[in-house]
Amino acid sequence: MDQLRVGFIGAGKMANAVAQAILLAGRTRSTLPSSSEAKSPKDNFGRYHGFSHRKLLRSQAEQLGAHHPGGQLRLFRSQNHVESQSQTSQDAASHLRSPGMGSTSYARSTAQYPKTKYWRPDGDVKAVNIFASAPSNRNLEKFQTLSCRTTHSNLEVLQNCSFVFLATKPHILPTVLHEIAPAVTPEHVFISMAAGVTLETLEERLPAGTKVIRIIPNLPCVVQSGAIILSRGSCVGEKEVDLLKKLLSPSGLCEEAPESYIDIHTGLSGSGVAYVYMFAEALAEGAVKMGMPGPLANKIAAQTLLGAAKMMLETGEHPAALRSAVCTPGGTTIHALHELEKGGLRATVMNAVEAATNRAREMGKR
Ligand SMILES: NC(=O)c1ccc[n+]([C@@H]2O[C@H](COP(=O)([O-])OP(=O)(O)OC[C@H]3O[C@@H](n4cnc5c(N)ncnc54)[C@H](OP(=O)(O)O)[C@@H]3O)[C@@H](O)[C@H]2O)c1
Repeated sequence: MDQLRVGFIGAGKMANAVAQAILLAGRTRSTLPSSSEAKSPKDNFGRYHGFSHRKLLRSQAEQLGAHHPGGQLRLFRSQNHVESQSQTSQDAASHLRSPGMGSTSYARSTAQYPKTKYWRPDGDVKAVNIFASAPSNRNLEKFQTLSCRTTHSNLEVLQNCSFVFLATKPHILPTVLHEIAPAVTPEHVFISMAAGVTLETLEERLPAGTKVIRIIPNLPCVVQSGAIILSRGSCVGEKEVDLLKKLLSPSGLCEEAPESYIDIHTGLSGSGVAYVYMFAEALAEGAVKMGMPGPLANKIAAQTLLGAAKMMLETGEHPAALRSAVCTPGGTTIHALHELEKGGLRATVMNAVEAATNRAREMGKR
């Protein structure tokens, strides 16, 4: 895995979110090397003191423009500059460090007991082994701040990488496939993120026997809480799928499913994020109507969704069971739920998933 080179053709939001996940993959604690190989505790930890998880997520979300859509990066480095592993690259890497590793007490404990565990400074794939291509520098700059290599040539990505993500908009993809097809070798594995472009189309447009996987991520991948579905093409084996799942695991949930579920996943989760934001907005506005200040209401609405989702995942309970556990007979919740039923919340949300799924299917036929 140390030598695995991962490429991105297209360097936009989703490519960047996936690249960040890949840089985090494998950054778990591992046993310290022998004392002669061990760096001083300061080398491993000193510069991460005080770097909180919240800051990490905010920095990543800001880099991805999640808070400021279309916002420009303030950091800029030239393409030549990224070829060297500089101090800046270490700084960029520190932004990707796993939560908790900056803890002073952890650093101290490591100083006292050097033969314990430490956080690996690099993940399974090093930044220098990630390549991204795009026509302009607009999005490539964000890869440069992660110390990844960048180019304007899609073919250069193919020449350097075996695992290649296809991350352009769907309407651009046919041109890209036409361009790269002559350079494809049996070692390449292509992972397409393009909505509506089927495995059949990808396999038809690339040489016979090419390994192709489809993935559909969703926006919360940018804060490592995404939901990704992957479907494998006819020439892909367990080895490639296992490796991809391992690489994507830091971006959130990653499940393999038949390709026929992909459009449903778009209706449920890709677009579903927007339904949840609308619900969160309505929750908060209800509280504002009853007299709570907006910023506090928004924060509490978000935490309510987060807590409810976490309980669902951690208990494995059906949502109906969790809901009924909140309902005291004659109490506040059952009165509120009656209002939601009168408003047709359940049927409306089911209709929304159906509408988005059908639209994804329609778009796939074009
Ligand atoms: N955004 C989502 O929530 C989401 C969810 C699921 C799936 N997807 C899929 O993910 C894919 C990428 O979406 P995105 O939101 O990341 O798009 P995006 O931000 O618009 O990025 C598209 C990238 O493609 C590059 N590009 C354009 N023409 C190219 C060419 N000929 N060769 C190489 N690169 C080219 C663009 O270059 P410049 O940087 O020069 O403009 C840009 O870097 C889409 O297919 C989309 O369907 C997105």
